[in-house]
Amino acid sequence: MQTQKGAAAHAAPTHLAVQGLSKTFGDHRALASIDLTVARGELVTLLGPSGCGKTTLLRCIAGFIAQDAGHIRIDGRSLDGSPPHKRNFGMVFQGYAVFPHLTVAENVAYGLRARGVAAGQRAERVARALDRVQLSHLAQRFPDALSGGQKQRVGIARALVIEPDLLLMDEPLSNLDAKLRVEMRQEIRLMQRELGITTLYVTHDQDEAMSISDRVAVMQGGVIQQIAPPEVVFDDPANAFVADFIGGCNWIEAEVAGDPAVLHIAGEAALPLPPAAGVRGPVRAGIRAEDLGLAAPDAPGLAARVLVRSFLGPRTRLRVETPGGLRLDVDLPSADCPREGDALRLAPLPGRIRLYARDDGRRLA
Ligand SMILES: Nc1ncnc2c1ncn2[C@@H]1O[C@H](COP(=O)(O)OP(=O)(O)OP(=O)(O)O)[C@@H](O)[C@H]1O
Ligand SMILES: [Mg+2]
Repeated sequence: MQTQKGAAAHAAPTHLAVQGLSKTFGDHRALASIDLTVARGELVTLLGPSGCGKTTLLRCIAGFIAQDAGHIRIDGRSLDGSPPHKRNFGMVFQGYAVFPHLTVAENVAYGLRARGVAAGQRAERVARALDRVQLSHLAQRFPDALSGGQKQRVGIARALVIEPDLLLMDEPLSNLDAKLRVEMRQEIRLMQRELGITTLYVTHDQDEAMSISDRVAVMQGGVIQQIAPPEVVFDDPANAFVADFIGGCNWIEAEVAGDPAVLHIAGEAALPLPPAAGVRGPVRAGIRAEDLGLAAPDAPGLAARVLVRSFLGPRTRLRVETPGGLRLDVDLPSADCPREGDALRLAPLPGRIRLYARDDGRRLA
């Protein structure tokens, strides 16, 4: 199974285990029997479109909402019925959630005070947490006088200072501009690795998930569609939803027939498939834009004409149309790239056509 690939890379013991977790709001099933394990020190991202259940899963783990069914365990110990403040989890939310009437240092100290940590020890731990997020020089400032990135660092320091068993982050960077988001995600990753802190991170930004995660759990409709390292969800998607959500795809309704198998596309040339493709009959073929190239003169290929050309630096994205009306995206090297109106012939790179079931999108080959 694609979903199991990469698991061997995580030899560390299971730290967080979620088993059969379900949650319904009214008649809406927000989580449908979620199974998820996170190894000690691992960073797992929940990635999926708006409303797929990411925040609900995080809030169940944090203890802010009770699941209808299923179990959550830390180091094998059940958390069922345990209130949030007993779970010792650090939380960083979307938005800044800092107290405006407290200084940076007081904001960070808040959780320690609530836990009854003595003043001397408190000061020492706050200083360490502020140093960790590079805010020591701003310890006495009020949040009003901080930038968005600095406020978010206060939030992170506040989560780390309690030395949490688990760090839960829900879209922590969504308020920041694009450049700062990229910087901060690298900082979060570095810090997470240095501290070896087990982290569950929520985002709907594919690049963010791919760049910081040990594994990515792709969610849709309250279900984890696939959980695997970033390269695996990208290169070996479990189903059409994952292929489309991660990286995008050209989708072609087609038939597989013959021996050796070929892909028949109505009104177009047939494309050869790898010998191992045991599938026959109607399929949805998925081909990524970067997996299409120009066909060799004597090889089979799809005739097409360039509609739109978008320069992307070293690569250029072409929107092309075949005589049969099929529209495809193609990424080609920018050097010598065809121009708008040019005719060309396209062929998939070897082994880069993926086949999915037309009904439920499961991966066939
Ligand atoms: N307290 C609630 N009452 C009723 N419905 C809820 C409640 N919380 C969440 N939902 C519904 O459950 C579903 C999952 O919501 P959730 O907030 O977990 O999504 P999400 O994946 O975090 O989305 P986003 O990316 O927009 O934050 C949504 O359809 C949402 O409307
Ligand atoms: Mg959410």
